[in-house]
Amino acid sequence: MLAAVGSAVGLGNIWKFPYITGEYGGGAFVLVYLITVMLVGFSVMIAEMLIGYLGRRDCVANFETLAPRHKERWKYAGWMGLTGSLVMIYYSVVIGWIFHYIMVAITQLPATVEQAETVFGAMLTQHIGTQLFYHTIAFLITTAVVAKGIKGGIEKFNMVLIPALMGILAVMFVYATTLDGFSQAVGYMFTPDWSKLDSEAFVNAVGHAFFTLSLGMGAIMIYSASLPKEGSLVKSSLFVIAGDTIIALVAGLVLFTFLFQYGSEPGKGPGLVFISLPAVFYEMGAIGNVFSVLFFLGLAFAGLTSAVSLVEPMVQYLIDKFDMSRLKAAVTMGLFFYLLGIVAILSQIEWSAPYLTWGGKNFFDWADYMTSSVLLPIAGLVMAVFVGYVIEKERVASVLKPQMGWFFPVWYFSLRYIAPVALVIVMLNLMGVIVF
Ligand code: TRP
Repeated sequence: MLAAVGSAVGLGNIWKFPYITGEYGGGAFVLVYLITVMLVGFSVMIAEMLIGYLGRRDCVANFETLAPRHKERWKYAGWMGLTGSLVMIYYSVVIGWIFHYIMVAITQLPATVEQAETVFGAMLTQHIGTQLFYHTIAFLITTAVVAKGIKGGIEKFNMVLIPALMGILAVMFVYATTLDGFSQAVGYMFTPDWSKLDSEAFVNAVGHAFFTLSLGMGAIMIYSASLPKEGSLVKSSLFVIAGDTIIALVAGLVLFTFLFQYGSEPGKGPGLVFISLPAVFYEMGAIGNVFSVLFFLGLAFAGLTSAVSLVEPMVQYLIDKFDMSRLKAAVTMGLFFYLLGIVAILSQIEWSAPYLTWGGKNFFDWADYMTSSVLLPIAGLVMAVFVGYVIEKERVASVLKPQMGWFFPVWYFSLRYIAPVALVIVMLNLMGVIVF
């Protein structure tokens, strides 16, 4: 369960959630996101957990063993799930930036937003060496932890980093509540402005709900495969969802409080925590210095515990399928993502970017777009359909009815109808068929 929380709580909560909330204007987006998390996220998480709990193997083998007919065809569903791991291509690069920013926070914070923009821009488009160095460290840590396995590596790693992250956020949150900007932040996040909500915001809210809960790529599935037989899927999923949502909301409130307090803009895009925030920390004086180091440290912790879960499903697959040793599988997958990560870095560097940009998006952006907006929702849909329509209802009910009681039909309905409809709308929107 701790491993699942570590997977869910990541850059998605602290880096992505605040900046997309800023881009789509706050309140209305937050509301749609919360509703999606509860309706679609909850239903699909239970479904993904159930596949792992019943199958007890890797993502592909689970689909094969559980499909009553057409084993051959369903193995592609497992493959589909594994492709979500491609998130790791850019995830590890961003963790690298965070490492670099821990150093920036320790040595010299930029004094103004303009300066911060220059510092970030230079790192992104010119300093290959810096990015490469920290990306390498992120790769080494992740691979080392995954090589030690779920019990010996991932769990122990999470046991230290997650409480540390929560402690850091709690201290910053308490401080934020004493500032005037806090009430403004609350207003911004919880007063819906419907005029800002278009179909793009809706698609992003659904995509982000999947991303932040680590759904649709076998991470949650792998972890529930090691849940004890008497463990409750419902309790575990509620625990993960609650933890993930609380951390996203707290991180959002803290960041927006600081930004508003010092007259900064919330709609800065992906640069929010790397541009606006460092300048704000600078203005805060001594306490800002301490907070900036703690903040980037916490962000690094959140990222690392998720990164291991992005690599683990593929590693598990290699071990199961090809009888590889864990060490060899971890190194193989680590290197694979490491090399593609270098391509992602190069795709933003001034001189190499033109060769790695297609249709207005560079390789880095494509990796993000293809995974969060396309692969994860499709894989989520496949999992919902698999549990909702393919596995026999009696089998599903035999595990979940005792855990859910009267709620079982509600969940089953939501899994069979609400989640697929929401996901199909997302896909049609992506293809440009429905735009609202
Ligand atoms: N949930 C993580 C975050 O919010 C990212 C992540 C980890 C993820 N594992 C995943 C996303 C699996 C999708 C699928 O940062």
